[in-house]
Amino acid sequence: MKKLSLTSAILASFLTTSIMATETVNYVENPQIAAKGMAQAKGLIGAIKPALMAAMKKDKTGVEGTVMCSEAAQEMTANYNKTLPEDSKVRRTALKYRNPENKPDTTDLAVMEHIVAEGNFSKPLVVDMGNAFRVYKTLPVHKPCLVCHGDKEKMPAKMKEILEKKYPADLATGFKEHEFRGVIISEIKK
Ligand code: HEC
Repeated sequence: MKKLSLTSAILASFLTTSIMATETVNYVENPQIAAKGMAQAKGLIGAIKPALMAAMKKDKTGVEGTVMCSEAAQEMTANYNKTLPEDSKVRRTALKYRNPENKPDTTDLAVMEHIVAEGNFSKPLVVDMGNAFRVYKTLPVHKPCLVCHGDKEKMPAKMKEILEKKYPADLATGFKEHEFRGVIISEIKK
């Protein structure tokens, strides 16, 4: 009996995986929503950047910035969302993510794979989710990002220690300049 339920559990998970893999993303052209989503994504950058810049200026090794980001990035995002209209919410995700709370869903995954395949990092993509639109803004890797997302071997010991403690499954290192780092998603209810 036990064996049978195990088999069906495996079968069920296999079926779900294959359904997810064939999921199609409904890309739409909607300049108005794209503009609204981009403004909100830029607003999130504007909410995080000053604190990050200040921490980086204070300590060029990035250790202070890492502490700041690891302690405050989620809260800053939540606080920023409170300033948006009821219908909108922003979040960040990536293919190689650092914080499991930023883990992508199946649509995010398909869209990010599409962005990487196309290599177009400047055009926002709008997806129709049925009851909402999602606007995807690409975040490329710039030089300053490498301090905390570059070669792990080159990081200060203290930073490695903080990252290993806080994000034991960190995937967000080893990036090179101009690569795809992730996206900001603005989800706007219809
Ligand atoms: C001072 C160190 C530091 C710098 C510099 C930095 N990051 Fe991060 N980044 C972090 C930390 C720590 C997290 C995890 C924050 C959290 O818990 O949400 C993170 C998370 C992210 C995420 C969310 C997805 C994930 O991986 O969890 C994205 C996207 C991201 N960073 C992109 C960038 C980009 C693009 C730059 C350069 C413009 C950059 N970061 C610069 C430390 C840094």
